[in-house]
Amino acid sequence: MTSYLGTPATAPGPPGPEMLRHTLRIRRDPLGFLALMRDRYGDVVQFPIPRPPTYLVADAAGTHQVLVGRPGGYDKDTIQYRSLSLVTGAGLLSARDEQWRRQRPVVQPAFHHSFLPEVAAVAAEESARVARRWASVGGPAVVDVEAAMMDLTLRVVGRCLFGDDLRGSTARLAEATLAALTVVIKRSRVPVAVPAGWPTPANRQLRRSLQDLDAAVARLVGGRRPAGRTLLLDLLLDQPGWSDREVRDQIVTFLVAGHETAASALTWAFWLLAGHADEADRVAAAPERARWVADETLRLYPPAWVISRSVVTPDRIDGTAVPAGALVITSPYLVQRDRRYWPDPDLFRPQRFAERLSAEQRRAYLPFGAGLRQCVGRDFARWEMQEVLRDLAGRFRFAPVGPAPRLVPAVTLRPAGGMLLQVAPR
Ligand code: HEM
Repeated sequence: MTSYLGTPATAPGPPGPEMLRHTLRIRRDPLGFLALMRDRYGDVVQFPIPRPPTYLVADAAGTHQVLVGRPGGYDKDTIQYRSLSLVTGAGLLSARDEQWRRQRPVVQPAFHHSFLPEVAAVAAEESARVARRWASVGGPAVVDVEAAMMDLTLRVVGRCLFGDDLRGSTARLAEATLAALTVVIKRSRVPVAVPAGWPTPANRQLRRSLQDLDAAVARLVGGRRPAGRTLLLDLLLDQPGWSDREVRDQIVTFLVAGHETAASALTWAFWLLAGHADEADRVAAAPERARWVADETLRLYPPAWVISRSVVTPDRIDGTAVPAGALVITSPYLVQRDRRYWPDPDLFRPQRFAERLSAEQRRAYLPFGAGLRQCVGRDFARWEMQEVLRDLAGRFRFAPVGPAPRLVPAVTLRPAGGMLLQVAPR
């Protein structure tokens, strides 16, 4: 096997010139590129990048080993999480080691199952708000479902976690989050990023977005009497020894992690229902089917399409040695569309979730990650999605207005140019 600038390769992978030929594809269609690499080189692929040695792990067993096996063997010291922390600081999503072990038990009670009916109730109210807007047209209308879902999910997170519907500022906040994350994505793609302090247009944009996010946090926290607080705010504000900065980082983390992910999943769910009127009718007639639609959407369009880890102690994955310090990329998208685990993997078939998944499929289904760092908002998101799907599929029929929008894998999977659909009252 080759060696990259003195670092010996331990797994097959594309030589430098092949990687260069794919530069454009990596940008435009990273998912297609990852699938091609797996098909060409196998389940563990090494890219021609010397520092850190960089691997793709594409099968369910290997992915499971990275995310679940050997606690402490893998960490989040990766370029993706370092870039994200420009926005979220050391919040729960990007926190490492001791910091994470200290934080998770603090916020966990705010996600207890006993709160889920409230999440569903708030999601139903917000969904009814969207429905009123769509119905006010008085007939079929073409709407940007993605924009509506971004607004809805931000309001649900705001109300459920912070007791505030982020009055009138949702559009600005959603924009600030997206703008900040767009800069983050660009930074995480280049090996040597321009220092965040330099006054480039991207850095100025990042600074403006951070100011908007910080202002929103100050408003959420400022002058809040205990009676007006939610459990999460209580937990964060009453933590002895937590600085204002730590509280800010957690709140921004929840705003960021809790809204674009759920909005992306709901957007693709409506796209799928628009193309499968029979399934939409079934949800309208039997609302409990919304759960399977949510699960199947998260299989086909997992918002977190890649999950990265750094290797802390050397490991062997599928027989391949991965050294300490290496970067490992896993991809829920690849695993969840892999025909080795899922028959007709690209077909939308919610019915698969009506049956019991096999042990292998359970390992090959990780829209919320797996292991200790699994999504703390998993049930929050699932209850929210089910409620919104049930409500809006019951009130409207959806139809596509053009060809499938191009998939843009950014922080989450987004449709290029939004998601225009025709909605008509049932
Ligand atoms: C469909 C919606 C969602 C998806 C697909 C999703 C996906 C994920 C994934 C894959 C991870 C693990 C990342 C890793 O292992 O590197 C994660 C972690 C996390 N998610 Fe979510 N998430 C969703 C909704 C939410 C919501 C609604 C919240 C909060 C209200 C939230 C808060 C978090 C936090 C704080 C973490 C870090 C947990 C930790 O490391 O302890 N997520 N999410």
